[in-house]
Amino acid sequence: MSTNDFFVIKAMEDGVNVIGLTRGSDTRFHHSEKLDKGEVMIAQFTDHTSAVKIRGKATIQTSHGEITNEGEMDL
Ligand code: TRP
Repeated sequence: MSTNDFFVIKAMEDGVNVIGLTRGSDTRFHHSEKLDKGEVMIAQFTDHTSAVKIRGKATIQTSHGEITNEGEMDL
């Protein structure tokens, strides 16, 4: 399963965590990426990655729209 759908994550603070979760019956973390303020990650869902968890203040663009993840300090 591979789509061409990219999503974009822009970190709005240091230490934003992007965590990839595995596809299939066993859902677990398989990748963790740390972004500092201003860093941008462009990624796709793949055969290995079915979900992504993002912690920290970031703007996320997907084909479904854009969302701003509030940092913990803003909650
Ligand atoms: N090797 C991983 C994969 O092909 C890399 C990856 C793709 C990834 N999309 C991701 C890691 C999103 C974290 C978040 O599935």
